[in-house]
Amino acid sequence: MPTTDRPGGAEEDVLLAAATAAPSLHNTQPWRFAAAGTSIDLYADPSRQLRQVDPDGRGLHISCGSALLNLRVAAEHLGYSPHVRLLPDPERATLLAHVELSGRSERAGMTGAMYDAIPLRHTNRFPFEDRQVPAAVATALVEAAVLEGAELTLVTDELERARLTDLIHLADLERDLDPRLGDEAAQWTGVDEDHQDGIPGYALGPLSRDPITAIRDLRRGHPVEGRPVQRFERAPTLGVLSTPRDDRESWLRAGQALQRVLLVATVQGLSASFVNQPLEHTELRWLVRDPARGIGYPQMVLRLGYGTPAPPTPRRPLEDVKIPSREEDAGR
Ligand SMILES: Cc1cc2nc3c(=O)[nH]c(=O)nc-3n(C[C@H](O)[C@H](O)[C@H](O)COP(=O)(O)O)c2cc1C
Repeated sequence: MPTTDRPGGAEEDVLLAAATAAPSLHNTQPWRFAAAGTSIDLYADPSRQLRQVDPDGRGLHISCGSALLNLRVAAEHLGYSPHVRLLPDPERATLLAHVELSGRSERAGMTGAMYDAIPLRHTNRFPFEDRQVPAAVATALVEAAVLEGAELTLVTDELERARLTDLIHLADLERDLDPRLGDEAAQWTGVDEDHQDGIPGYALGPLSRDPITAIRDLRRGHPVEGRPVQRFERAPTLGVLSTPRDDRESWLRAGQALQRVLLVATVQGLSASFVNQPLEHTELRWLVRDPARGIGYPQMVLRLGYGTPAPPTPRRPLEDVKIPSREEDAGR
């Protein structure tokens, strides 16, 4: 049990290292952090918002929400009992969350496992084995989403999987009609290995031998020379993460739910990638809703399965994401 009641410099780095290990849209890492006293403020970094694919900032907020969940898990790991206020100041639109760390709590068992999973979780765009997610694991994933105020619907029905896969392919074709989308994705993917953001070529995964697979080729329209072609799983486990509403707070909750689901998945030996293409198209997004239920706003489409470990992608140094003092940032 820690003996002080406020985070010091070393602890701040533990918290921020965990937060910045979160997934983000094209690995843009659109976050900044200001530590002061017993609290940490999470800010959006609008200069890292993708204007073509994410004009309303939904993906930016989901990315920052994922970082927030990691920060909470790391705080609990250090023995804090974090108290979070989302969007605490309407005057400062980029201030996404205020995290108060003064309380202390015993480290809980599941938090420890989730904390250990943070550096092990990587988006896995490689083929998975042809085996389904066991019911008990599926239940744990669904419960993880509920804990964060979201809903995860795992697609088990063959017809519904085919319908969702069709929407993924339709969205790929729609994207082809707007070269600005492909050009923006190409700027952030297949980047050199010395980049501190973006997705290096080694993390893109292979192309699919079977064109009807439910995967995402982030370099679609901008082929990378020498990229291998492989067979993917026949019937992937697809999941749709939804929230009851569709505003900035909901997107931050969706990000936290996403990351809790991904950490629980990692603990269970499961990998995940994302096939969000239909969510980036206004009309197709609403068709992603399960027609049998028809509720909620879809925020992420997950592809889950058992695969070989995927490589990590780079992150910017912590110094780049720290805001020196909250006063300096008062005008943000
Ligand atoms: C809001 C959001 C949307 C994403 N959409 C996709 C996607 O459609 N396809 C994909 O392959 N990865 C997607 N990703 C994963 C990111 O590319 C990935 O998190 C980032 O490159 C960092 O890599 P890592 O997850 O391995 O740490 C998304 C991530 C977030 C947070």
